[in-house]
Amino acid sequence: MTDTSTATAASVPLAPRALPLLGHALPLLRDPLAFIMSLSDYREMVRVRLGPSTAMMICDPDLTRQVFLNDRVFDKGGPIYDRIREVIGDGLSTCPYPLHRRQRRLCQPSFHPTRLAGYGAVFARAAEVKAGSWRDGDVLDITQEMMTLTTRATMETMFSGSLPAETMRRALADTSTIVTAFFRRMMTPALLRRVPTPRKRRYDQARNRLSATIAEIIAERRADPTDHADLLSTLVAAVDEESQDGQKQLSDTELADEALTFFLGGMETTAITLAWALHLLATNPDVQHRLRAETHQVLAGGKVDPAHLPSLDLAARVVTETLRLYPPAWMMTRAVRQDTELGGVRLKGGSTIVLSPYLLHRRADLYPEPDRFDPDRWLGGQPDRAAYIPFGAGARKCIGDQFALTEAILALTAIVARWELTPVGDQPFEPKVETSLSSRGLRLRISERRTSGTGDAGLHAATPRSAPAQPSTPAHPSTPPGAGGCPVKHEE
Ligand code: HEM
Repeated sequence: MTDTSTATAASVPLAPRALPLLGHALPLLRDPLAFIMSLSDYREMVRVRLGPSTAMMICDPDLTRQVFLNDRVFDKGGPIYDRIREVIGDGLSTCPYPLHRRQRRLCQPSFHPTRLAGYGAVFARAAEVKAGSWRDGDVLDITQEMMTLTTRATMETMFSGSLPAETMRRALADTSTIVTAFFRRMMTPALLRRVPTPRKRRYDQARNRLSATIAEIIAERRADPTDHADLLSTLVAAVDEESQDGQKQLSDTELADEALTFFLGGMETTAITLAWALHLLATNPDVQHRLRAETHQVLAGGKVDPAHLPSLDLAARVVTETLRLYPPAWMMTRAVRQDTELGGVRLKGGSTIVLSPYLLHRRADLYPEPDRFDPDRWLGGQPDRAAYIPFGAGARKCIGDQFALTEAILALTAIVARWELTPVGDQPFEPKVETSLSSRGLRLRISERRTSGTGDAGLHAATPRSAPAQPSTPAHPSTPPGAGGCPVKHEE
């Protein structure tokens, strides 16, 4: 029963500058990050208006965690997921609570640590090939480069063997069109979304073609049930022993939805994480220098290999810090399924909740000097599980977190071992805010690494910080990281 001593949602402050009819849609479209950060002074919650509907934006880490952990009441839904569902149906990331547990049980074996070892070898090989394809002095569209790298690696881990070049090219172009269109479609009122503009036609075509490509691959695989030791084989073979309704395996439609979910969910997020990491290294040459020393020491002149992962400590912290500063999923939404209470406020069933890793990750009271790239802030401390949420939390936490981290750390190592990265021009590069925090348009110059690296600085900061790096939120206990590797571990 709802606690009658709680406040009503209407008593929660409304963010300033709401326009009649449009609400906050304009500042959200014009400069979403500035708008989101302008809300960080509201310590717990603030109301935001998107056209006629109002959403409750959560600004506090503990309340955010409560939302994540109660996925029955705070279910997947709201404007972001409604748009994503248009493309991937009721796949694992979009399906509502009643469908979720079965799907998660069926998909989990594909991400089992024993499978991850095999995927790691694919990632390492793909990264070496990509790093080997560049020339000294090249100026690279680094996001595009990372997209082709992760598309290739994702395709290979999912569907084994390399697909025809034309299929790859088409899948990449279609994915790019779809993910770029998501955010605008999310902000556009339903009636306008149906207007057949050239942009909508391109979006529809890309969506249909990508679905057809995936369906084609699945049909071929059903016809040849050999275990290819890839993600798709594991999905095809997965059996849910706990199934109550006799549906122990994924149907063809479900398989296609899941394959599309993994493909869209994993490829772009990991690519932009890598692009941001390379940008941060290019603009922080001291960290790049230290990372090169690490790669030199660990690789000892050889190629990167998954066996190196436990020793790639700085590379892991660079990825952790990149995901803090540029969490690809910068905003998530939830639909409140029934009347409930959160942080002393009554919420009605049917209302919308907005969560933002970007906002939490840049709160100065949670992270000292929040805008500074400082991988050493993670030395000796595991990220706080409420204040650091690039992969979400609870039952809906990213199923591909270790997959992505493995891929990112290996790729970063292969690239930095070989290339020196420098910014192009002296203008700061700003994110393109879409459904993801995109690095689209980012260019970096690469030059051949000329120093041997043996005389490089140590792997930790050359100048000790005045205080040892703290786990970022004193309010929450932290546990030490495992030996090397990424400090981000599974929690549940
Ligand atoms: C750096 C890379 C990645 C980031 C930052 C990321 C982020 C996230 C986040 C924040 C969520 C939770 C969304 C929410 O609660 O609303 C999520 C869920 C999910 N992610 Fe990722 N992701 C990444 C890579 C991947 C990869 C590589 C895959 C698959 C190959 C993947 C597949 C999924 C799926 C299927 C879900 C839904 C899980 C469920 O609801 O049970 N992600 N991801």
